[in-house]
Amino acid sequence: HAFHSDSTVEVIPEANYNVVFDIDGVLIKGSQVLPQTRHALGLLQSNNVPYIFLTNGGGLKEVDKAEQLSKKIGVHISPKQLILSHSPMRALASQYEDKNVLIVGGNGSDCRRVAEYYGFKNVVTPEEVHAVYPAVCPSSALEVRSVPLPEKYLQNVHRPVDAIMVFHDSVDWGRDLQVMLDALISKGGDLGTVKTETELHTTKQSVPLYFSNADMVWSNEHPNPRFAQGTFRSCLERIYKDMTGHDLEYTLYGKPMNATYQYAESVLNQLAPIHNDGLPHRRTVYAIGDNPYADIAGANAYGWKSLLVKTGVFKPQGDENHHIHPATAVVDNVEDAVRWILSKEI
Ligand code: G3P
Ligand code: MG
Repeated sequence: HAFHSDSTVEVIPEANYNVVFDIDGVLIKGSQVLPQTRHALGLLQSNNVPYIFLTNGGGLKEVDKAEQLSKKIGVHISPKQLILSHSPMRALASQYEDKNVLIVGGNGSDCRRVAEYYGFKNVVTPEEVHAVYPAVCPSSALEVRSVPLPEKYLQNVHRPVDAIMVFHDSVDWGRDLQVMLDALISKGGDLGTVKTETELHTTKQSVPLYFSNADMVWSNEHPNPRFAQGTFRSCLERIYKDMTGHDLEYTLYGKPMNATYQYAESVLNQLAPIHNDGLPHRRTVYAIGDNPYADIAGANAYGWKSLLVKTGVFKPQGDENHHIHPATAVVDNVEDAVRWILSKEI
């Protein structure tokens, strides 16, 4: 349009509603891009509808995920449009600035870089603990690396752990559960120590714990949903309860948690500010997702409209809605979701 001198070319004003896309099970399935994805994004672009991506995935920086996704889908996605499960956990960095934080999940060095990028100054990962003390998890499937980790990564292994944050799915559940449990039942977070049997039953857990998402399952190219971070958490909860008699205490981020939706709203405010005409406004937001317990529960609770697709975790027999977290509408796929939204708005 920029080079067109024809004054009849219509400039479509920015829409006053927004779309929030889930990623896994909606746009992609593992290595595959779903066939409706490009068209769905194209429809929003041609109607000038601002949209963002809100995923419970993570394990890398927003800028890297945006680049990865842009390449995969073939549509440019800015890091400003992308929220990962751990993005809102950036806010914890000031609280834990001088503290030693055990960061769990994915490739240890990748999650370490995410944490450092958020402003955490002292990070340690289970992989680093294992590298220094191989006997910590003798049955680990992952051998201690043949290429040693940089010396500067290993310094915090000897410091007590002040908090545990799970940023992504574990790639070695045995190792990670062991190291996390070691911290939870230690004397003051010192990994080499353990509370007495009496202390275990009479005192609280030694360090606070955070998880970046609650999903029990997620959807990749396998025909049925796969374990996600919530199933890993269930294991830790059970082990901790058996060993101490207490319920594990933790804070959850990601969909469907309110903190994540507040963060998403602040991202939308940056991307598409509401024009103030003196009236109080609440933006209209349509969230498209495949997981009723994450995408639909979260959107409904936050006052957004929700579209549940059938390409991911949710697999109905027919056209029925989810019985616990019914969506505003159930549609076949992401393109139908976008068409449904446009039909209501235009
Ligand atoms: O671990 C679950 C995560 O991969 C799901 O991602 O995009 O469906 O929220 P998403
Ligand atoms: Mg999903």
